[in-house]
Amino acid sequence: MIGITKANVATLVGALALALAWGQAGLAEEAEASGKFEFVVENGRVDASTMRGWEVYTGSCMACHGPDGLGSSFAPSLLRAAERRSFEDFAISIAEGLSFRPGMVMPSFADDPRVMSHVVDIWNYLGARVEGGLPRGRPRLLEENGDTQGSE
Ligand code: HEC
Repeated sequence: MIGITKANVATLVGALALALAWGQAGLAEEAEASGKFEFVVENGRVDASTMRGWEVYTGSCMACHGPDGLGSSFAPSLLRAAERRSFEDFAISIAEGLSFRPGMVMPSFADDPRVMSHVVDIWNYLGARVEGGLPRGRPRLLEENGDTQGSE
């Protein structure tokens, strides 16, 4: 049952086209080409894509997949999924949904532009958690100036 079928490829093309259409062309192409993550983590602060990924994850995925990507009794850890899976697989799962494990259903987000336009951002956020040493909790944006520097 595991393998790339024509139906999967069609959905993948759809998912990637959506990501592209929503203005993330460069990032989607890079993620697709390398299968790797594009994130910046500096002293616990992150780039805009990673930040957005945390926001969308927390709004749309956390209820089932647990806080910070760690998984719950309802759904598996997405940190492990991001380590193991390619971006393509990841995007297909989100667009199509999954019902692989008995009694567990991952809904399709194909009709949810808020999620489909940020698949790359969610991917990058999980990458920052897995490979970038990003700790649990709400990240802070790199440009966000916590301390007043009075430069502008
Ligand atoms: C209603 C609960 C629910 C929500 C909300 C949900 N998921 Fe899932 N997800 C699941 C379940 C359950 C599975 C396991 C399905 C299976 O294995 O058959 C799963 C599986 C997955 C997988 C495959 C995991 C693996 O081990 O390969 C990915 C990727 C995924 N979800 C991403 C997401 C993302 C991203 C979001 C938010 C946009 C999300 N999910 C929101 C329940 C949910």
